[in-house]
Amino acid sequence: MSKSAKLDLGEKQIELPIIEGSEGERAVDISKLRAETGFITMDNGFGNSGSCESKITFIDGEKGILKHRGYTIENLSEKSSFLELAYLLFNQKLPSADELTSFKGKITERSRIPEGIKALIKSFPKEAHPMSIASAAMVALSAHYPELTDQDLNDSQKNEIFPLLLGQFKTIAAAIYRHGQGESFVDPDPSLDYTADFLYMMKGKQVNPEIAKALDVLLILHADHEQNCSAATVRVVGSSKANLFASLSAGIDALWGPLHGGANQAVLEMLEAIQKDGGGYEKFISKAKDKEDPFRLMGFGHRVYKNFDPRAKVIKSYCDEVLEALETEDPLLDIAKGLEKTALSDEYFVSRKLFPNVDFYSGIIYKALGIPTNMFTVMFALGRQPGWMSQWRELVESPAMRITRPRQIYQGKTDEKL
Ligand code: SDX
Repeated sequence: MSKSAKLDLGEKQIELPIIEGSEGERAVDISKLRAETGFITMDNGFGNSGSCESKITFIDGEKGILKHRGYTIENLSEKSSFLELAYLLFNQKLPSADELTSFKGKITERSRIPEGIKALIKSFPKEAHPMSIASAAMVALSAHYPELTDQDLNDSQKNEIFPLLLGQFKTIAAAIYRHGQGESFVDPDPSLDYTADFLYMMKGKQVNPEIAKALDVLLILHADHEQNCSAATVRVVGSSKANLFASLSAGIDALWGPLHGGANQAVLEMLEAIQKDGGGYEKFISKAKDKEDPFRLMGFGHRVYKNFDPRAKVIKSYCDEVLEALETEDPLLDIAKGLEKTALSDEYFVSRKLFPNVDFYSGIIYKALGIPTNMFTVMFALGRQPGWMSQWRELVESPAMRITRPRQIYQGKTDEKL
């Protein structure tokens, strides 16, 4: 296989190096293109452009494969735990039993949030969208932990800030929920594991282990997803050497959008609209296919997966298990399954390779766990934190790191005079 690509630009020819990844992906390295030819490339939405080389997550969109540090998402969701995966993502290796115990202990010790953060959460209107509070609280943490806002954190500071943020954001997320319910905050219980403690602080009482386990699997499935919109945002902000709190806050903002993490909330709202409309989803399928109609089938389609999102497969199978364990039923699950079946036999979706993504079924489980729809994207952020922090760490530790600053082609007016 050639190690370089030849580009003939008419008046110029150039040879560009080819980069090959450990899973066989290939890229043309255009770092020297503008300097040597004056040309840049254009790629709307960066669907064909690599921003970095990474060792964290691999996705094969055509085959529906997702791996973290070489472990498949199926293997991890069955055999690992959210905090073990978080450790693997941060530290490039699975923790020993002692390392995991110490990591969990650090997170537990750092789960109480400053009074100032509680006051900030309470300062928001009760009806505020939880993602607005999550983003504000995340960046506000920088004022409470100024010793962790250096532009170049050393290893001991990195090993401090990762468990700190996992502990703090768990409590912040639960407090945001309580604020929205008009209830007082519940402090963390150090005797409880991560998801059991989150649910305890959210509900004000201990929940059965089945529920805590179901949430742990959901957090595993959301932990990282290579250069998605919010992870790319974390990297862009991190590339200016803004601190990690600021980078994560920007990641939360990017995730909020209904085309990204906000889709999990939009899916539930769509399923409830179908239910309210008598349960007939054909009308919604037609709307999704109508170019004149802005409506999209939320939870369907993906920039990278042109096959089933492997996370959606795990969540779909888990829905039945969780509903059975909770001895509850949800008609929305039947609507979702019918919608999926109909869409996957419709030429419009088949020809565009539009399959259910991670957001299509996740809301069914969140709802069964008693989590309200407007909190779904905060739950996505809770799961995605280790991924964002690992992407940030890989960026700032890379010798190749430079500030992200794309170019453009100017199409505006020229030679105007006042
Ligand atoms: C996440 O990137 C990640 O990894 C993200 C994520 C993660 O873990 O971080 O996986 C999480 O964000 C999942 C995606 C959640 N979003 C949604 O479910 C919203 C609905 N989906 C779409 O809006 C869309 O599929 C995107 C945003 C997910 C992807 O958009 P693309 O890659 O820009 O695709 P596109 O808009 O160019 O669509 C290609 C075609 C178009 O039709 P044509 O112009 O070719 O005729 O497919 C159509 C689109 O109109 N299309 C849809 C559709 N998604 C794409 N038509 C109807 N319903 C949809 N959902």
